[in-house]
Amino acid sequence: MKGIILHGGHGTRLRPLTHTGPKQLLPIANKPMSQYCIESIRDAGITDIAIIIGGLGSNKVRERYGNGEKFNVNITYIEQDEPRGIAHAIRLCKEFVNNEKFLVFLGDNIIQKSITDFVKNFNKSDYDATVLLCEVDNPSRFGIADVENKKIVKITEKPKKPTSNLAVTGIYLLTPLIFEVIDNLKPSWRNELEITDALDNLLKQNDNIGYETITDYWKDTGTPEDILNANRQVLEHICGTADAVFESNRHDKVSLDLTYRRPCIIGKNCEIDGSVSIGPNTSIGDDTIISADVVIENSIIMSGCKIDGGLNIKDSIVSANCHLHGNNKDKTKKIFLLGEGTKITL
Ligand code: TTP
Repeated sequence: MKGIILHGGHGTRLRPLTHTGPKQLLPIANKPMSQYCIESIRDAGITDIAIIIGGLGSNKVRERYGNGEKFNVNITYIEQDEPRGIAHAIRLCKEFVNNEKFLVFLGDNIIQKSITDFVKNFNKSDYDATVLLCEVDNPSRFGIADVENKKIVKITEKPKKPTSNLAVTGIYLLTPLIFEVIDNLKPSWRNELEITDALDNLLKQNDNIGYETITDYWKDTGTPEDILNANRQVLEHICGTADAVFESNRHDKVSLDLTYRRPCIIGKNCEIDGSVSIGPNTSIGDDTIISADVVIENSIIMSGCKIDGGLNIKDSIVSANCHLHGNNKDKTKKIFLLGEGTKITL
């Protein structure tokens, strides 16, 4: 079986974080989102993986993952000229797939559970496709499946009046039959070839789509809130009973006498000292310096940042190489959403 990771797209809802690179490289608990996908696919026994790249920051994806050797997989890169939809991206992989069954993983989807059993079950089945469904609170934001008598009867993209709360997650198990369906697909109102339309057409054609349900954590990280939520969830998982994970190396100057509120993670080669409190639900990237009266909670601070001078930060995402200098007199909590290299003095 082959694996495909979608690493293109516009990422408009995550601006300014996506002005300097693709959203799938944004870190969740100090690891790029799409690395979780690679590891999840590899752990399910699939080692031939195509990554669809396009637009801004494609070179960053190639730099990060190379030929896949470091991750024990073989990676092929396939360019998508414009984000013309998920089904369009999948269609580009026909040659790569070479008549095998395959798995598609959207690079901005985070799932806690192993996908090994889903892959095994699909391999044994004669389904034309299997989708993974997850109950959600806000179904009009997702592609939604209507299920009757344990069968999917309809798949609708972002229904205004949803008749089910079962979202189709961004993990699809497919056969090459989907390529024929995509070839006959018309672009949607937003001018994209929609995967939900392709699946719904496949359903109308053969009535042979299976499903499995994810009951653990699944998140489609389209917005800053989604990213903070995923960060919180993954930190909870990796911290276990500890307050903090220190990814330290010998260059670290991280004082352990400070307040680390569970769960949080501190990257490599950081300097943290002074009256500082970190956590809960906070990731601090590598090479970051934090000092002098700083409180950070429920936030992601990426690598190479410098934060000092009295600052109380919450619910924030601060991209790499930002410098934030606070004002000791102002103790109100600040919320930031900052693109790479931003400099702020309060
Ligand atoms: P979306 O989140 O639906 O779209 P987007 O990335 O363009 O974001 P926004 O709506 O904020 O502008 O995309 C889902 C996933 O599929 C994501 O990982 C990006 C990827 N994708 C592609 O690789 N190619 C595409 O043509 C599209 C539309 C998405």
